[in-house]
Amino acid sequence: MNRRSEQDKNSERERRVFVTRPIAEPAIHRLAAMVRVDLWDDEMPPPPAELRARARQADGVLSMVTDRFDAATIRALPRLRAISNLAVGVDNIDLAAATRAGVAVGHTPGILTETTADLAFGLLMAAARRIAEGDRYVRTGRWRTWGPKVMLGRDIHGATLGIIGWGAIGQAMARRAAGFGMRVLYLPGQRMARSARSRRLRASADAGSATPESVSLERLLTESDFVSLHVPLTAATRHMIGEAEFATMKRTAILINTARGAIVDPSALAGALRAGRLAGAGLDVTDPEPISANDPLLKLPNVVITPHIGSASHATRLKMAELAVDNLIDVFEGRRPRHCANPTVKLR
Ligand code: DGY
Repeated sequence: MNRRSEQDKNSERERRVFVTRPIAEPAIHRLAAMVRVDLWDDEMPPPPAELRARARQADGVLSMVTDRFDAATIRALPRLRAISNLAVGVDNIDLAAATRAGVAVGHTPGILTETTADLAFGLLMAAARRIAEGDRYVRTGRWRTWGPKVMLGRDIHGATLGIIGWGAIGQAMARRAAGFGMRVLYLPGQRMARSARSRRLRASADAGSATPESVSLERLLTESDFVSLHVPLTAATRHMIGEAEFATMKRTAILINTARGAIVDPSALAGALRAGRLAGAGLDVTDPEPISANDPLLKLPNVVITPHIGSASHATRLKMAELAVDNLIDVFEGRRPRHCANPTVKLR
């Protein structure tokens, strides 16, 4: 019995995990106590060829949203048993290819819900009340006096918030909105999968209710003062908000995106903002990322942009790192990750 567990420990130590960026120390130390860790100790992600070369030597990868695992990459990694993404979103990984190859994909849902909703609501407030713009106004010496028409924004209290995607983060956003006396309309995510463009959803008859109301996309876009996106990026949601949707929204509306940049057609967004078809936007995600310094969105004062920091609090990033390590250990112990994005996978 003792000899066997000694052997198990030895084979665990021979296992290699490629960690593609420095993560919270307690989590990496726990991992390093169990397996050999190859850490990419840089602020920038490993270039694709380096990612592939390092992952080729590994039994597991602890990856970031910036690491792309397409089908060809996954095929080139015969030793790999698990990809554990430090994120809830897994659009950087070809899940079907991973499943075919017997590679389990772990992710980190739940623990980042409230932190991400905090940022989404913060962006809503910043865009509505021109907080970032006001800060720039002060710092650049333009604040000469109090004025009755200076920096007028939009009220949040009493406004209507349309939430696209009624998962954990969308619902956390609705809880924040309730505190501000907002009316909440929502479009449940799973019904969207039918088609990106033809969604006929059941509209509740109970308009004006204080409880969140499930509505069609068209009604949500027509009636909302703020539209906040909380769906994963899939083939069905890519560019689901484009010219037609901006044309349906109120001219006074503000778009909030803390999900994935490619859910919105970026040129349609810039066009709508420039033409005054949309009053503003609060974006934590862009397409591409990082946004180019010459992107037209950066020239618009009514856009607030943060650098994909939805889950970036000290406490949440520590929990994410711990969970990403747990997901890997699950696989090394012969189980699917406790949070598995491809639950039909048959482990290698
Ligand atoms: C996620 O979890 O998917 C975020 O985008 C990264 O924190």
